Amino acid sequence: MPAMENIAGNLFFIGLMGAGKTTLGKYTAQALGRPFYDSDQEICKRTGVSIPTIFELEGEDGFREREAAVIDELTALNNIVLATGGGAVMREENRSKLCTRGTVIYLHARPEILLERTRHDNNRPLLQVEDPLVKLQELYNLRDGVYRSAADIVIEPTHQNCHKTVEKLLQLLSQK
Ligand code: S3P
Repeated sequence: MPAMENIAGNLFFIGLMGAGKTTLGKYTAQALGRPFYDSDQEICKRTGVSIPTIFELEGEDGFREREAAVIDELTALNNIVLATGGGAVMREENRSKLCTRGTVIYLHARPEILLERTRHDNNRPLLQVEDPLVKLQELYNLRDGVYRSAADIVIEPTHQNCHKTVEKLLQLLSQK
């Protein structure tokens, strides 16, 4: 078992839709006995509506404003685990808060894998298009470099076994 007492400060998960930020974030928080937050869930809690409804009523720009406010608030907390929405890192303002207020973990997965994991989900407005694989490839090409440059750790989740991925991640974090 990794030396968990060496793992200090906030942990922020970044990566594309379907990478497993929420699932692995929750497991990691549980293993470390820390509070877990998800920026999308926090936005829904505060507005009382779903992400697709926010996109419908306020457009993507309105959603990004709300996301930036929530990221600012949550990253100011201490010793939390946070799963961010996949696009959060694309705003410099969010990126600089994530990078300076905690350890950033990029969950990397290829578009084909992400498609499998998001295929039956209609809660992601950006993927409600004729060919979601093309959209995921586009987003991957745009974002992979940004995710990598923001990240302290890059990890490829093995989704058959979340616990193994968390153990590997805790190992990497304890060596930091
Ligand atoms: C988005 C990702 C979603 C959500 C919104 C936009 C994106 O979060 O914030 O639909 O731009 O990649 P998840 O990454 O948790 O699906």
